[in-house]
Amino acid sequence: MNILILGSGGREHSLAWAVSQNPKCDKLIVAPGNAGMDDIADCAVLDIEDGAAVVDFASAHSIDFVIVGPEAPLAAGVADTVRAAGLLCFGPSAEAAKLEASKAFTKEVCDAANAPTAAYAHFTEAAPAKDYIRQQGAPIVIKADGLAAGKGVIVAMDEATALDAVDDMLGGAFGEAGAEVVIEEFMEGEEASFFLLSDGKTVLPIGTAQDHKRAFDGDTGPNTGGMGAYSPAPVLSEDIAARALAEIVQPTVDEMAKRGTPYQGVLYAGLMIKDGAPRLVEYNVRFGDPECQVLMMRLGAQALDLMQACAEERLNEAQVQWADDHAITVVMAAKGYPGSYDKGTAIKGIDTLPEDSMNMVFHAGTSLKDGQLVASGGRVLNVTARGASLSEARDRAYAAIDQIDWPDGFYRKDIGWRAL
Ligand code: AMP
Ligand code: GLY
Repeated sequence: MNILILGSGGREHSLAWAVSQNPKCDKLIVAPGNAGMDDIADCAVLDIEDGAAVVDFASAHSIDFVIVGPEAPLAAGVADTVRAAGLLCFGPSAEAAKLEASKAFTKEVCDAANAPTAAYAHFTEAAPAKDYIRQQGAPIVIKADGLAAGKGVIVAMDEATALDAVDDMLGGAFGEAGAEVVIEEFMEGEEASFFLLSDGKTVLPIGTAQDHKRAFDGDTGPNTGGMGAYSPAPVLSEDIAARALAEIVQPTVDEMAKRGTPYQGVLYAGLMIKDGAPRLVEYNVRFGDPECQVLMMRLGAQALDLMQACAEERLNEAQVQWADDHAITVVMAAKGYPGSYDKGTAIKGIDTLPEDSMNMVFHAGTSLKDGQLVASGGRVLNVTARGASLSEARDRAYAAIDQIDWPDGFYRKDIGWRAL
């Protein structure tokens, strides 16, 4: 099977790593890919948000299966175009991708599906939005409706912050994404991520994870795309996961099917858990980054079989082979991230690190300059390890970090603290 993965981050490196271990995989191309994937895949230049270009590229390279990593091509309808061309594709249609691309849409689907989530209202005008905030009081959560690269959510602990957020969003701070705002009840509890495959009908859980969104130790500092993650998430016990599937995810998938827009792909449910009950915070229509890295570390080669069964609408026949293991990933980021940071700084000491089923350094933002590995993004490396326990996995990951010589990078030293 010839496979094309779309994307360029650590998520896509881990997908490529898992897929390449499956004997079914003959040829693997990642577009655009990055410097870390050289030995397992060909990297190609391609506009991944242009469905017609993806189809042309896939035909020219005899691709059988396209796996879409990030949300932007999904929201742009790339999976629709690829499927319409008769190719197998892993990733939802643009209509189904609205579960991430529009928060108002998701809330409305949750209402229809009777799925527990925060109470809300949505607005396109500032005055009624502000009236609603004054009436509800703080804490309260203000969200830009559309895709805002993870920056469109303000958890306001006081009313003034909430009112300012409305002015910012409706004032154009997030462009089109903020032309509508969703205002939500503030939910208390512990957050965890639940990953499931859906073929439109059957839903198959493939793992749980927790990430660390703040930049610095002790969950301090600015919000980031994620500074580390681990799997499984102990807070998502078997009971709570079963409830989340029965009360939230399956009803959502059923509702999408009923509307004639079946959901096909991975569904990443962000949950808030309190007193043993899960509520939905948000859906993402792709794997999390860096959560994907820990899921792939645990699933290995079977990830390809599962994604294929999902795309071929045969999830009812699929089974996940679970090991009783733990995985952790620690993000090494460029100093300054998530603010401004230098590019092109040299990274050394990676070549000699073990790369096997227990240890992997996934690359998120690297390139090669005159044969030297350099940083080319904010989040740069995902140092990932597996173990019989979380503490074993953690020790392995941090031991690997000790070997990496990158004075211009930083990382959190407390990834996994909540579960340890
Ligand atoms: P989202 O982009 O929707 O995941 O929101 C980003 C983060 O904001 C989430 O991971 C939560 O930590 C927080 N958040 C979002 N919605 C709520 C809510 N209704 N109550 C409390 N926290 C929330
Ligand atoms: N790590 C959070 C996300 O991928 O959205």
